[in-house]
Amino acid sequence: MAYYCYMMQCADGSFYTGWTLDPARRESQHNHGRGAKYTALHRPVHLVYLEEQPDLSAALRRERAIKKLTHRQKASLIQKYRQGLMNSQANEIVVISPGRVNMLGEHVDYNDGLVFPAAIDREVTIRAHEHDQNTCIIHATDLNESTAFSLDGLEKKLDLEGKPLPGWALYPAGVALVLQKHGLKVMGIEAEFSSNLPIGAGLSSSAAVEVGFAVLWEALGGWKLDRMTLAQYAQEAEVHYVGVNCGLMDQFACANGVEGDALLFDTRSLEWRPVKLPAGTSIVIADSGVRHTHVTSEYNTRHKECEQAVEILKKHYPSIKALRDVDLGQLASVKAEMPENVFKRARHVVTEYNRVVEAVKRLDQKDGAGFGKLMFETHASLRDDYQVSVPEVDILVESASRLPGCLGARITGGGFGGCTVNLVKEEDADSFISGLKSAYLEKTGKSISVFASKASAGAHLVR
Ligand code: GLA
Repeated sequence: MAYYCYMMQCADGSFYTGWTLDPARRESQHNHGRGAKYTALHRPVHLVYLEEQPDLSAALRRERAIKKLTHRQKASLIQKYRQGLMNSQANEIVVISPGRVNMLGEHVDYNDGLVFPAAIDREVTIRAHEHDQNTCIIHATDLNESTAFSLDGLEKKLDLEGKPLPGWALYPAGVALVLQKHGLKVMGIEAEFSSNLPIGAGLSSSAAVEVGFAVLWEALGGWKLDRMTLAQYAQEAEVHYVGVNCGLMDQFACANGVEGDALLFDTRSLEWRPVKLPAGTSIVIADSGVRHTHVTSEYNTRHKECEQAVEILKKHYPSIKALRDVDLGQLASVKAEMPENVFKRARHVVTEYNRVVEAVKRLDQKDGAGFGKLMFETHASLRDDYQVSVPEVDILVESASRLPGCLGARITGGGFGGCTVNLVKEEDADSFISGLKSAYLEKTGKSISVFASKASAGAHLVR
């Protein structure tokens, strides 16, 4: 917890001194007449000075000392504070790191499949400057939480006081550890990050944080990685530090996004190319608002079930390395040997691989309706075979399918709640958005966020 000594400049130019835990809230209290008698009579006030103190008694001592200063001495303190602030802002680095939506190719990236994501215009923003050698102080602005950890002993996942790192801090800490393991210099930082991406909604907020911090440490450390390697290191952090046995799609899309294009990515060869979505269409994202706590364990279970399927298939077809190599005939021939859920998971992956191959043909033929139909088929397969949808998301897809201009709709990302992605004719996008919101409200009694999105550039420094 941080204690601050502050000064407010009052409407008549005088200074009011106090201490607080929350400077912005305190300023608002003073301006609402609830801070102190003096400021209530001299409103409005502006926060002009802040000094962090280690504990309450230090803050109270400092408050008394500042109160004893003359007006002129206070003004000079404020002047120095502003200068310091300007200097630290001059050294500030800002990184923007986008989320992604996946158009097709779901749950195939850990089966060597083809995926078709796009980085989107919703992102995580990180502001940071170098700190002393080995410490990272990170503020998660949206959560109103902070943590500090040492760059030595990151394996322990502990903060400076020896307490377990909060869940959100595992992403930057994991990236720092992986970078160190690959021999890259990782600097101490003070950073704050915030996001306009819905969190845990299937739009890769985790990958955006991981890739964003990797880009930040790259800028500070004076080394350079190609974007594929950087994405792989971020994925390594997620798998080995956070504990989600994910594929490479999210980190890839976040690191390699191209403005205006979706990305056709072969997760086996790591080859990729930007591909235009059908002309005259918009990507619309609808957030069901549903979040499940068991996503990680369910996700890891799906991954294991795919591996189990490969093991069984290999006994008959030794050349098979991953579900990508399997056709429906081969799968049917081993059905009796597979537990039912394993068979269904494999059937989703095999048909999903085929759908992406088919989708590329549809795009080449400029067949937006054909592409959209494949999105609906993917949804049905994720709902029935992969079993990663939830009733609220099914309502969204079903409602979307009845609205004018909707070419395709499906759940996007890992699943178990989160968002749908919709391919909608541009001229119908506005009415689609309001139509989907009202249909959902009518069926569930809940208001949700539905927004149009654009394919965007990958994570980059803006300053
Ligand atoms: C999550 C994972 C990805 C991918 C998708 C499902 O977003 O991080 O690697 O497996 O789920 O396609």
